[in-house]
Amino acid sequence: MARKKIALIGGGQIGGVLAQLIALKQLGDVVMFDIIEDLPQGKTLDIAEASRVDGFDVNVTGTNNYKDISGADLVIITAGLPRKPGMSRDDLLTTNAKIMKTVAENVKQYAPDSIVIIISNPLDAMVTLFQKVSGFSHNRVMGQAGMLDSSRFATFIAWELGVSVKDVNAMVLGGHGDTMVPLIRYANVNSIPVMEMLERKYKDAAKAKEVINAMVERTKMAGGEVIKLLKTGSAYYSPASSAVTMAEAILLDEKRLLPVCAYLNGEFNVKGFYVGVPAVLGSSGVERIVELSLNNEEQAALDNSVKAVKGLVEDMKRLGL
Ligand code: APR
Repeated sequence: MARKKIALIGGGQIGGVLAQLIALKQLGDVVMFDIIEDLPQGKTLDIAEASRVDGFDVNVTGTNNYKDISGADLVIITAGLPRKPGMSRDDLLTTNAKIMKTVAENVKQYAPDSIVIIISNPLDAMVTLFQKVSGFSHNRVMGQAGMLDSSRFATFIAWELGVSVKDVNAMVLGGHGDTMVPLIRYANVNSIPVMEMLERKYKDAAKAKEVINAMVERTKMAGGEVIKLLKTGSAYYSPASSAVTMAEAILLDEKRLLPVCAYLNGEFNVKGFYVGVPAVLGSSGVERIVELSLNNEEQAALDNSVKAVKGLVEDMKRLGL
């Protein structure tokens, strides 16, 4: 079986970690594209020169020519500017939309059969734009956001409860912005509801609620928390790990059920928009959306998040994109 080809569009902070993780996992040959001359060549040379120590046999190369992504099976896009302290993801819209349009045109031309994972922000709008410009079927275009938001939520829960994060299941739905919806009711530690564990810990339902609400708020603001500390850019290790998990599910046809920014056609009462929901990922990309029952409060929170996504899509239309 021929090795898979994975194209990374954007060779910045996230792009570099993506290339290294893909090589370590030997998911396929990596071609990193960036508009900055020599940057992707230098980064990939550095990674490739660790092949002996890390023991990987895949090729990792860099380019400034879109032609080199020809025939890619999977494309992961991080092209665009990251946030600076004080900026919201939405502040990146105009700049990154212009970049995404060019990226989509080139991916359409050179990797017309690929499955595409987008990481660039504002995420939901960038995924929408990429699909529109490329004309790729919706199942082949998705965004990474929920994997990371859910991982952040699970990490905070593990720290709070003093249990291994491996046993924590937590999911965040909705758009990748301040309106995202961490699902408290479904969060569990190896099937024990997180709320029950918090109530036992604090022996006080009100206190337990206060603690979970603080974790929900921290999850929503987690990207900003990292930016404030880094000062020069935004998170990159965790978004890269999250996207590689999605890539692995697709390339190995794992049928994993993960939170994915996927196109909804009536599911969760949303029609015609990309929003974060549980979905099964396999060799066809987003193979199906998995619905779950939401109570009134959760549905209202999701509706509110969808409203924010719709607002961004409207803004793009106004900009003629
Ligand atoms: N085509 C290809 N690459 C581009 C283009 C373009 N038109 N414009 C910019 N880039 C490249 C930059 O040269 C840079 O190397 O995209 C890369 C982005 O890397 P960083 O600035 O390091 O940003 P990073 O932290 O990797 O985040 C990328 O993901 O999470 C989001 O908000 C984040 O939108 C940002 C994106």
